[in-house]
Amino acid sequence: MARGKKLYEGKAKVLYQGPEPGTLIQYFKDDATAFNAEKKDVIEGKGVLNNRLSEYFMTGLNAVGVPTHFIRALNMREQLVRQAEIIPLEVIVRNYAAGTLAKRLGLEEGVALPRPIIEFCYKDDSLGDPLVAEEHIIAFGWASQQDLDDMVALALRVNDFLSGVMYGVGIRVADFKIEIGRVWDNDFQRLIVADEISPDSCRLWDIKTGEKLDKDVFRRDLGSLTEAYTEVARRLGVLPTNAPQMGKPTLVN
Ligand code: TYD
Repeated sequence: MARGKKLYEGKAKVLYQGPEPGTLIQYFKDDATAFNAEKKDVIEGKGVLNNRLSEYFMTGLNAVGVPTHFIRALNMREQLVRQAEIIPLEVIVRNYAAGTLAKRLGLEEGVALPRPIIEFCYKDDSLGDPLVAEEHIIAFGWASQQDLDDMVALALRVNDFLSGVMYGVGIRVADFKIEIGRVWDNDFQRLIVADEISPDSCRLWDIKTGEKLDKDVFRRDLGSLTEAYTEVARRLGVLPTNAPQMGKPTLVN
C-alpha cells in the first residue's frame, strides 16, 4: 500500500499518512530504548514481533467491544490505524508491584496488589514522563473529568482482557501502559485505545517460573529480547512466519 508523508518518528515506531483521510500507517522499528532513551540498541526482528502482537491484542479488544485504533495489518511491519488525537498521558495499569511503583513505595517486586491500580504519567520525554494526579490533568486541561472516568473504564477493560488472554498461555500481566486517543464520529466524541500493546509496554512474567518475557529483559540485560518476545508470540500461536529463527544454530555440512 502506498504510504503518505512521514508524520512522526518516535523511539519504536514511525507514523505515515494513511491512504484515506483519518487513517495512518504505523511502522514498527527494531529500535529498543529504555530509561528515557539513555539505553539504546537495535534488536533485529523486534518490530515484526511487536507489529504482530499488537495486531493480535487490538483485534481481540475490538472483537470484545473495546474500541481501538487498529483497522488491519498491512505487512510484517506495518498496520493501518485510525487517526486519533492522542491524550498526552501514559495510562498505566498495575496488578503486581514492579518498576517505579515498587521503587517509589518500597514494595517488593512481584507482590500482588490489593486491586488493579491505575496511574497517569504526563507524556513529555524532556521531563521523563512524570507521574501526575487527576488534579493536574484537570487543572492543565489535558483531559476532562468525563474523559478520566472513561479512560479508567477503558484501561480496566483492557486489563481484564489482556490478563485473561495471557493467563490462558501461562503468563502473568504484572503491569502495562496504554495510550488513549479521541476520535469523532460525526459530532460524537469517544475515546479509543491507540498506539500499541506489546511486550515493549507490558511486564509479562511466566506464571510458573517468574521468567520475564518483556522489555525488562533489555532494561536489565537478562538475555535475548527477541527470544522472550518470540516465546510470547509462540504461546499465543501468532508467531510471524518469517520472523528470525531464534533456535540454536545447526551445523551445515
Ligand atoms: P513503570 O514501572 O512506571 O516504569 P519503568 O518501565 O520505567 O520501570 O512502568 C509501568 C509499565 O508501563 C511497564 O510495563 C512499562 C510501561 N511504560 C511504558 O511502556 N512507557 C512509559 O513511558 C511508562 C512510564 C511506562
